[in-house]
Amino acid sequence: MKVLVCGGAGYIGSHLVREISKLPGYEVVVFDNLAKGHAAAVPAGVKLERGDIRNKDDLERVFASFKPEAVFHFAAWIEVGESCSDPLKYYENNVCGTVTLLQAVQRHGTKYFIFSSTAALFGTPDRIPIHEFDTTVPKNPYGDTKLAVEVMLKACDDAFGLKSVCLRYFNACGADASGEIGEDHEPESHIIPIVLQVPRGKREKVFIFGNDYNTPDGTCIRDYVHVTDLASAHIKSLEYLVKHNKSDKFNLGSGKGFSVKEIVEAARRVTGHPIPAEVKDRRPGDPDTLVAASQRAEEILGWKRQYTDIEAIVQTAWNFHQKHPNGLH
Ligand code: UFG
Repeated sequence: MKVLVCGGAGYIGSHLVREISKLPGYEVVVFDNLAKGHAAAVPAGVKLERGDIRNKDDLERVFASFKPEAVFHFAAWIEVGESCSDPLKYYENNVCGTVTLLQAVQRHGTKYFIFSSTAALFGTPDRIPIHEFDTTVPKNPYGDTKLAVEVMLKACDDAFGLKSVCLRYFNACGADASGEIGEDHEPESHIIPIVLQVPRGKREKVFIFGNDYNTPDGTCIRDYVHVTDLASAHIKSLEYLVKHNKSDKFNLGSGKGFSVKEIVEAARRVTGHPIPAEVKDRRPGDPDTLVAASQRAEEILGWKRQYTDIEAIVQTAWNFHQKHPNGLH
């Protein structure tokens, strides 16, 4: 099957590309504007088409020549804080860009679409763990843009039969076991790579944003799910679409939450570095706890996680950073 991976040079996309290109029966092309992604993250033997989802001509070129049967869509701006200060940047790329992409999908009769969605859909959740059909009221423009695409995908199914799976990632983290690819954002925005900047000599200490939350140690609890497990959920989703020809959506987490303090402690154990931490004020918009109910993905997709131990997860991120002290170039 021919699969096009939009945003396949980015963090999560490149892990999917690596996994799916190892399997028989798939021909993979990556479509990426390289604004945030890295050409070095695309495996040798996989074609990288440089282009932008907002550009109809770029899309037409790749759809006309490659004729994908399935599209994985990872191409999005992802920083919550930036989405609040520059919302139109987020609507332009994440919503308008996806409209342009879906128009190409419709023109070329692409059958299947797998979308990178987010736990940010749920805003401050009604209950923990969060189930797929719980209330979705995002608290920031980033989450709004992802919800808009989920709504659009439902309409595309109703109107022209596009079958899609929306995967709501909780806290994606870790790196491929080889250490060859991993999380390399500029600027770094997520807790595990930020914490690992201390033993890497790139920052002196970590700031913990608030220790007066309603959690056992007072710091926020999040659901850290390994990026290779996310990649396998994408492959399972495509298999599901091919088998059942039915759209669906799934929450993807690890089944267990860890506090910010627990993440810092895990990183201390993995790296052997003291990693000084200082408590600062809360970061606006952070809910106390976000943990996914991931049973639906296990039962319906047959998804099995390889990584459940937080130290093992942090270890993979640490291996990557040790192999790439200056990031992926
Ligand atoms: N944190 C710190 N110090 C830091 C960075 C983060 O204490 O230097 C804390 C945050 O306040 C939060 C936790 O670590 O409590 C995790 O923060 P991240 O920024 O790593 O991740 P978030 O949970 O805020 O965001 C993640 C995804 C988003 C997604 C969101 C869904 O990265 O893309 O979950 O709610 F939108």
